[in-house]
Amino acid sequence: MRFSEDFLSELRARTDIEELVGRYTEIRHKGSRNPNALCPFHTEKTPSFYIYRENQSYYCFGCGAGGDAITFVRNIERLDYTEAVRFLCERAGMMMPNDPVDDEYNKLRRRCFEANREAAKFFCGMLGTPAGKAAREYLSKRRLTPETVKHFGLGFAPDSWDSLIKYMKGKGFSENDLVAFDLAKKTSKGGTIDAFRNRLMFPIIDLRGNVIAFGGRVLDDSKPKYLNTSDTVVYKKSQALYALNFAKNSNDRKLILCEGYMDVIAMHQAGFTNAVAGLGTAFTTEQISLLTRYCDELTLCFDSDEAGKKATKRALAMLSSAPLKLKVMYLDGGKDPDEIIKTQGREKMTSIINDAVNDTEYALNDAKSRFDIKTEDGKLGFLNEAVNILAGIRNAIERDIYISKLAGELDVEKNAIAAQIKKQSRFNQKAKENERFSEALNAVLGTEKKNSPNPELRGNVRAVKAEEIILASLLKNPDYLKKLKGKLTAEIFVTDFNRRYFEDIRTRIESGRSLDLFSFGEDHENEEMAYLSYLLTKSNEIENAVKECEQCIITLIEEKSKKEAPDVAKLSDDDYLELFRKKRDKKKTEGV
Ligand code: GTP
Ligand code: MN
Repeated sequence: MRFSEDFLSELRARTDIEELVGRYTEIRHKGSRNPNALCPFHTEKTPSFYIYRENQSYYCFGCGAGGDAITFVRNIERLDYTEAVRFLCERAGMMMPNDPVDDEYNKLRRRCFEANREAAKFFCGMLGTPAGKAAREYLSKRRLTPETVKHFGLGFAPDSWDSLIKYMKGKGFSENDLVAFDLAKKTSKGGTIDAFRNRLMFPIIDLRGNVIAFGGRVLDDSKPKYLNTSDTVVYKKSQALYALNFAKNSNDRKLILCEGYMDVIAMHQAGFTNAVAGLGTAFTTEQISLLTRYCDELTLCFDSDEAGKKATKRALAMLSSAPLKLKVMYLDGGKDPDEIIKTQGREKMTSIINDAVNDTEYALNDAKSRFDIKTEDGKLGFLNEAVNILAGIRNAIERDIYISKLAGELDVEKNAIAAQIKKQSRFNQKAKENERFSEALNAVLGTEKKNSPNPELRGNVRAVKAEEIILASLLKNPDYLKKLKGKLTAEIFVTDFNRRYFEDIRTRIESGRSLDLFSFGEDHENEEMAYLSYLLTKSNEIENAVKECEQCIITLIEEKSKKEAPDVAKLSDDDYLELFRKKRDKKKTEGV
């Protein structure tokens, strides 16, 4: 074990999960015995994230995130286990015990950070050499100032097969390291070459200032225009945003989301230092939850071409349930912010930012552009879409403003539009209620589809429920293992998933280790921690009696025998008769 149980229990005692979580999302005490909140790990409008004070754990019934304080810090701060313990340790004013032995994974991550930092230094240095002349010219053609180049740590990967490899070897990195960190590639002939050659280099920096990846742009029109680091031990492109390390400091909690590296850099250079961009992937929900931590208002600033419009609509749909005020810019007079700033100056960009419309106005404008509202048909078509859009607005005053505007514009009675919207929102409400009702019904009927993460749930609902009760009871009452000796064995479990957890918990009990969530943390992955805290949420719902466990054991035996019984429908006539005879004989001997 890397941390002693004494240390962990001290840390646990000094950490209040409710206070910790409260720093990231507002905790509510209404409506439930347990404090709840909007989940900080996914976007939602009604809270499904619960805190269990007695276990010092949390569980989200919406996305299945769960665990203890350490898991929480790991996930929300994106730290590894040891770093998360250190984080909590510092908060609690405790000393870290002598630095624990690193496992291989952490060592590799640290090496990867170091390698990326060295590589970034190398690329920066190359920009100043004769080999970097073309790159310097390119940068000045793009009007980037030396300050900007330095601020963003831009560099140049020379036109050579192995100059980075040579440099990195001199710093003690092996070819295998470089391939693993995607700084070098294996060739089909078994050689190793630099991953980035003859490219302008953009280091991607995380929120703590580590270089985690690179983007590399060609200096001409050749393809591919950009090469990006693939996912590594320190980089998941779906979870990162370019320049968030700078933009997060903009203190009015407003961010601008652009499409590309060059847009972000041009924006920052022009003084709009709250611009960020995705990293060559479609916008993801992980990026949304990252954004919601750093802003309350997000303005989309995608290219003005068709692809940009599509991306805007897609992003707006994804963002619709995020707790963010949304705006969209119209980039008229240019393809992207970089071009607009370059050709029309920062004043034009300022007015574009000021003229950004909210998501409702954007949707209305978009609908309008698809109809010819001078004709009756076009007017009707647009009105239908507009009604649908406005029916989604909850604020009555806001809705009224749009209705007035629309009525004036189309020369239609305001009341008629309002009535139609009312009808539509009643319809939408009804649909929502139906959905909620069937969810509730599922829960009552015990399907609880959404909640149990057990992959074998289908077809095993009854068994899974029984297994979960047993596991939950054991976590609360380790002495039941002895009390149920002989009855409670790994064999009775129907799903492999729960059988593994049973064996895990049993081994812990038998070797006298703590069943505290805190002590599971060091040898369990985040998903496993989430499942354990899911089980703990169960343990608050059940009776926690030996009798209940015994009943569950009987259920499992029944379910298992059902599974083992042959499928009667598939038997041939002869086999069926045979089975029938056997059953009859058995009944006779049992005297039934
Ligand atoms: P410039 O063309 O230099 O102005 O760059 P840009 O940042 O404006 O790029 P663009 O608008 O063409 O593309 C937006 C973003 O998509 C880029 O910043 C990259 O992250 C990504 N991207 C563009 N081209 C490629 C490509 O060929 N491969 C990959 N993987 N990503 C790309
Ligand atoms: Mn561009």
